[in-house]
Amino acid sequence: MRVTQDQPTTPYEAMGGAAFFETLVHHFYEGVAEDDLLRTMYPEEDLGPAERRLRMFLEQYWGGPGTYSEERGHPRLRMRHNPYVIDDEARDAWLRSMRRALDRTIVEQGLDPAWEQELWRYLVGAAIAMVNQMPPEQPGIPVQDAQEPPR
Ligand code: HEM
Repeated sequence: MRVTQDQPTTPYEAMGGAAFFETLVHHFYEGVAEDDLLRTMYPEEDLGPAERRLRMFLEQYWGGPGTYSEERGHPRLRMRHNPYVIDDEARDAWLRSMRRALDRTIVEQGLDPAWEQELWRYLVGAAIAMVNQMPPEQPGIPVQDAQEPPR
């Protein structure tokens, strides 16, 4: 019988552990540096600390080390993104950079297609959830109209 201790025990390990997330997030920020829209959104001149925060967050989310919360507390991602204008265009730019990063990482390090699908589904859903601007052609209704019955 095989010793099961050697089997990956978390999605983090199954995806390739520290090396996988380091490469993915590094390639992502290479894309950010080259994208005019995204680059202007990131407040710090040096993208290194932002790269580290996203890497720690993703590692923690997928069952790796909990360093993100030790250093940053509860993720509260929607709240932490509030200072930034995230419209559909920003979301698409973010996802484009992430898709390219993922493709490059898979070429370099490999990834089980089932994990690729799961990871990508998560990233798309999370990016959609981070949008905090209504496009002007789809305005919401005034709050007043949403809470008062029509007269
Ligand atoms: C939808 C497009 C998105 C845009 C334009 C965006 C932009 C940004 C910006 C400008 C920052 C500040 C950089 C920093 O100093 O850390 C940031 C931080 C961060 N973002 Fe995003 N983001 C997006 C989506 C996401 C998604 C989908 C995730 C998670 C899956 C994510 C996770 C994070 C994390 C963990 C931080 C650091 C939070 C902290 O301060 O601890 N972001 N993001």
